[in-house]
Order: sequence, then structure tokens, then C-alpha cells
Amino acid sequence: MLNTAAIVALMKNSGLFSVTDLNIQTIGQLFSLASQFKHSFVRHKQFLRRNESLSYKSVALVFFESSTRTRFSFEMACNRLGIRPVTFIANSTTSIKKGETALDTLLNLHAVQPDAFIIRSDEDEGVREFFKTSQKPCISAGYGKFHHPTQALLDAFTIKERLGEIKGKKIVFIGDVRHSRVAHSNKSLLLALGAEVAICSPKDFMPSPSEWGEVENFEQLTSALDWCDVAMSLRVQKERHSTKADLSNFIQNYQLNKKSIGSLSDKAIIMHPGPFVVDEEITRDIVKDSRTVIHQQVENGVYVRAALLQKVLGDR
Ligand code: NCD
Repeated sequence: MLNTAAIVALMKNSGLFSVTDLNIQTIGQLFSLASQFKHSFVRHKQFLRRNESLSYKSVALVFFESSTRTRFSFEMACNRLGIRPVTFIANSTTSIKKGETALDTLLNLHAVQPDAFIIRSDEDEGVREFFKTSQKPCISAGYGKFHHPTQALLDAFTIKERLGEIKGKKIVFIGDVRHSRVAHSNKSLLLALGAEVAICSPKDFMPSPSEWGEVENFEQLTSALDWCDVAMSLRVQKERHSTKADLSNFIQNYQLNKKSIGSLSDKAIIMHPGPFVVDEEITRDIVKDSRTVIHQQVENGVYVRAALLQKVLGDR
């Protein structure tokens, strides 16, 4: 269940760690603002609702893990709103290389007084602690295996845009669900918005019921695709595996390709949070399929993240 006290938290501009920090009303407000940004950008190539007070704000983007879409779209959202983003990437040119912890790095960046933080990291207790204690709002750009709230928001926004509504829609997560923070955050958000969710995964990639609850698992990809309105393909997250995955079995039974998607309805959509690995979970045919909305998801990421930044920073 979504936390009903959360709107108060978000109103106090304390940021966003997990989708459970959101309630239905806040999600509605974010989607409506994101739509306004999208419409004004499509028509006028700028965000007409731009709040001038944001021009004096600076936001620290702190990435302890690699990222392409999430970082770029947060930076683009800042730019379109007039916010100044300052990006820190924990690579070999930073003091992380010298042994500084993620928490100490964050506390030092905090001392420089950005107005907010956008942070991506693995499951690091120090980073979690920073989210709880920072005086500035912190937005998660992905944390460990379970949290990626802004990806879930932009995916839900895209489903609503393409299918008209989320309530009653059937979404199946295909592939490495166990290690996917995208699937985990999406599942919580979509259930709260009235969707039905299921998975289609080999045994090694199935999430534990204690983490996911009792969610239907389709053994056959054909049945999953026949059932769903949305097929969300997931990358095999090798960097999170403790043992080597059986890729050939995965490709044979769970890959989305021209042949395997035969039972998917013409009205259904195919999603992927990216990055996709061609010829593993998905083939080039699928990337090009007219039902595929991968680039629409990425584009919507800018509007949804801008809406969140506006909400978190706009009244400060
Ligand atoms: C994902 C992530 O980092 O969790 N990508 C993203 O942010 N869009 C998924 C992945 O790495 O496979």
C-alpha cells in the first residue's frame, strides 16, 4: 500500500527515495505537470510553466553507478527548468579512488550547499543514511535492487499516455525480475494505480515471494504475451549475479524476437527501461516494432523528472 502521509513529506520537499513515498494524489499532480511540460515543449520547444525562481537553484547529481538515460534526462530536465545541474560521477578521477566512502563524499558535497541531490548507488547503508538525514531534498536515481522510483513514474506515465489508463491494464515483466529495481518499483506503483501485474522468468530470475508477494508467474512466454497489454522486457543484470546465468536457456525461452511475440496483440505495447542488449533479452526487430515505446519512455523521463524537480524545489 502507498503511504498516505507521504504527500506531506513530498510537500515539505523532502525528496523521493521509494515509490512508497508517493500517494495517488501526488502521482496525479506529477503526471498532470509532466503532461503540461510535454505539451508546451512539443508546441513551443520550451517549458512554458517554467518557474523563474528555479533559475537560482543548483542541483547535485551524484552517480556512484553507471547511467546513461537517467542521468542525461535529469540533466535535461534541470536545463529545461532553468536549474543548474552539477554532476559528480564516482570514477577514477574522484576521491572514491583514494578510499573515501560514498557517505563522506556526499557529506562533503552537502557542505558545498546544492539545493537538492539526485543520487544513484548500489545498496550502500551510508547512502541510505544520507537520504534520511540530509537537510536538502534527495531524489533517488536508482538504489540497489529495489528502488528506482522515477523510472516507475515515467513508465506509468507512458502506459497511461499510450493505453489511456492504467487501472485494469495487465503488465508482465519478462526476464531478470529478481535483480531489477525497475521491475520492483514498477510493480508497487502499478498495483497501487489499479493495474494487474505478472512475471515471466526462469527460476533463477524469479523474485522471492517475501519481496514480491504472490504474483502470477507465466511459464510460457506465449501465454504471458497473450495475456498482457504491456510486455516489459528486462536486461539480464549480470553485474548483480553471484553465479553465472544460463543465458542460452534464457534466450531460447524468454527472448522477445519476431517469432516469439506472435501471440502479442496489435494493441499491446512493448517496453524496456534500457539499456537493452541486442540478441539477449530482445532483438533488433523488436526495437523497431511499431508497438515498442522505448524511446517514448526515455523522452517522457525528462517531463516526469522535471515535474518532480518543480514540485520538490519550486516552493523552497
Ligand atoms: C536500469 C537501472 O539502472 O536500474 N536502467 C535505467 O535506469 N533506466 C536498468 C538496467 O540497468 O538494466
